[in-house]
Amino acid sequence: MSKKRVAILISGRGSNLQALLNAEQDAYEIVLVISNVPDAAGLERAREAGVDALTLDHKLYGKDREAFERDLDNSLVLRDIEIVALAGFMRVLTPFFVRAWAGRLVNIHPSLLPKHPGTKTHERALAAGDTEHGATVHLVVEEVDAGEIIGQASMPILPSDTPETLAERVLQLEHELYPRCLAQLARKIS
Ligand code: GAR
Repeated sequence: MSKKRVAILISGRGSNLQALLNAEQDAYEIVLVISNVPDAAGLERAREAGVDALTLDHKLYGKDREAFERDLDNSLVLRDIEIVALAGFMRVLTPFFVRAWAGRLVNIHPSLLPKHPGTKTHERALAAGDTEHGATVHLVVEEVDAGEIIGQASMPILPSDTPETLAERVLQLEHELYPRCLAQLARKIS
């Protein structure tokens, strides 16, 4: 079975991208990284790994989200991308893009979905009095953070935890979870 050609979309530091690059890529091959933020640190990580890295600055498109996504889609199609993985990509995607990549568009989210979709997940887990927390890899659907779950990793919340300590420990879980789930998806789709 040939390796699936994967593009990673980022907006920032790219530590999940790094974990995906470092993992054994036997089911997938990362061939492209696109950032919607021009100076995202993750772009440098991609270049150091010898992967094509592009910026597509959403600000140049004003309020026209779909025009941004059409160009994004073109860049992916041009390179024969088969799976798109969001890794700290901080844009909500429109139905146009989500439908175009249905079943092949995956995201990592820092909570145990369906708990705490959206932002500030660590603060909300603490405020809710949760005793466990973690990360989820899921398919992307039109509703935010609501698609089919591919995998989760969880950990206990300690009495001493703060949003910062939770963020740090959840990120460690993410780095192990995402490569495993991406490989699982790559093996499943034809
Ligand atoms: C990660 O914690 C990821 O789960 C989160 O952003 C961080 C990106 O870190 N994603 C979301 O909140 C998506 N809604 P990274 O740039 O170091 O991979």
